[in-house]
Parts: sequence; structure tokens; C-alpha cells
Amino acid sequence: MANLACEASAPGKLILFGEHAVVYGRPALAVPVTQVHAIVRVSGSSRSGIWIDAPNIDLHAELTTLPTDHPLAAVVHNLLFNLRIDPFPSINLKINSTIPVASGLGSGAAVSVALIRALSTYIGHPLSDEQVNELAFEIEKLHHGTPSGIDNMVITYARPVYFVKGRPLETFKVGEPFFIIIGDTGIAAPTKESVGAVRKLWVDDKDKWEKVFSKVGEIVKQARNTIETGKTTELGELMDQNHALLQEMTVSSPELDKLVHAARTAGALGAKLSGGGRGGNMIALVNPETAETVGKSLIESGARRIIITKVE
Ligand code: MEV
Repeated sequence: MANLACEASAPGKLILFGEHAVVYGRPALAVPVTQVHAIVRVSGSSRSGIWIDAPNIDLHAELTTLPTDHPLAAVVHNLLFNLRIDPFPSINLKINSTIPVASGLGSGAAVSVALIRALSTYIGHPLSDEQVNELAFEIEKLHHGTPSGIDNMVITYARPVYFVKGRPLETFKVGEPFFIIIGDTGIAAPTKESVGAVRKLWVDDKDKWEKVFSKVGEIVKQARNTIETGKTTELGELMDQNHALLQEMTVSSPELDKLVHAARTAGALGAKLSGGGRGGNMIALVNPETAETVGKSLIESGARRIIITKVE
């Protein structure tokens, strides 16, 4: 068994178009966000056991003292059982993340991916991207009920993804780079809850919601075409349309709507919530010239922080 310390990192993610409808088989577009990331370092321990030190979530504990369905315990157990590692090694796991939790930027999936990579390499069984993606998806299923798998895929491969549930990786090209401002409401909103709320709506009236999801699917296809052909200014209108459908799904919130409105008023070409919604982040399409004004307006309208990211 290898005993050199191993480190791995994974980026955050941003859904540009298609969240929620993607759970029902429609396509979605997502990109990695490299300004934020999760980093996991695995090293040998002189104490027996698996010692987790995750200062961001104030967790300092030995693995067996955690409930077995704890996300970190589940990642470690699944991986070690899958690789038939017995007995478990004595190690320290140091987990740091700059991705805000429950904010739509994929913090859970990023920690899973970084942890799977660092730990599998440490124990001498480095995994392929396909294997990492599959294991991270198992963890997403444990914790998000009925996830589509988009978060683990875009984070594992760290590339722009045109995602359809159950299909292998398909990336898309970016004809002309464009700028997105991410505005954080600072409100933690677990994806499981918003996904559950949409499921209730769907169960009560499948015909109606299938139609809404199909409209989102059409927007996603147009957005892909627009991005690939470099007509990015047209993306703004598509973002606005997608946001209206997300409002209909009840996954926006007054805070998200306020930021979306502020961005549009300050000159953004379009804006929408991103991810699970009900809190977390929104995104706005900006020109390099309008980015500063839009950013300022978002902060004045309550955003806890903003990130400007270039999609290329
Ligand atoms: C969460 O990042 C995206 C959702 O569409 C859920 C999913 O696809 O699993 C809301």
C-alpha cells in the first residue's frame, strides 16, 4: 500500500440552463467554476482509525463516531468496500472547501470527487474518471433523493457538459468566451428540498409539468446552439425565459428574484437562478464593460458575495 500523502482537488459547478427539468430527462448545460474548489489531503496516521478534519463544517472526528449515512462516512465506506480494502487503513483526512455549502455550486459533489480521488490514490488504486463519476453519483443518490447526476459529472470531468440523465459525457464548444456573474443570496437551501417540491408538483399533474420541462429542454438546445455559434448576446433572453419557468416550478425565492431583477436593471443581458434554487446562487450574463456595475448592484441588493467567471 502506498503511504505517501496524496492530495486532490475538484472545482465547483454552475448550471447555465436546465436545472430541475434535467431530473425528468431533459438536457441541461453546466460548466466548472474553478474560482472555488474542494481540496482533500490524505496522509498516514499514528493513531488507529480514519480521522477527519474538516474545519469549514467544524467537523473533527473519527469516522466510526459518525452516523453511517453521514456524507463523508458514506464516501469513505463505499470506496473502501468497493475496492475490498480490509482492514481499513489508519489515516488523516484533511478536507478544505471554498465552495459555499447548499448554494447550488456543487459543494457536496466536489468534496466527494476530491475525496474519492485522493483516497483511492493513497491506497494504491487510482480510479478512472468514469469510476470516480459513478462512485460520486452513488453518494449524490444517498443524499439528494433523485439527482440527475449532472453535478458529479461536470465536477469529475471539469469540462463544459451538455448533460442528459443516464447518457455518457457529452461536452459542448464555446464559440466566443462570455462572462457570467454569480451572485450568492447567502441562504443555504438543500437541493433535496427543492427537488422534492418539484416532484410533488409533477406527481399531482404530470401532463402540465412534462410540458413545462419540455419548454426548458427547448431553451437548453437553443442555448447550446447559441453558445457554440458564438452568438452569446442572445443567451440573455434565453436565461430570462428559463428563470420564468423556474419561478413557475416554485424554486425561486424573493431574494433570488431581487438579485435577478437588480442584475437586469443594471445592464446584464439576462439573469436566472442557478442550481436547486430557493436560495443559493443566481447568475447574470454580462459584458466586460457592464460587469462592474452589475456586480455593485448585486451587492447593494443583498448578495453576500459575487464571483465573475469567464466561460471559454
Ligand atoms: C442541482 O445542482 C441541479 C438539480 O437539477 C438537481 C439535479 O439535477 O440533480 C436541481
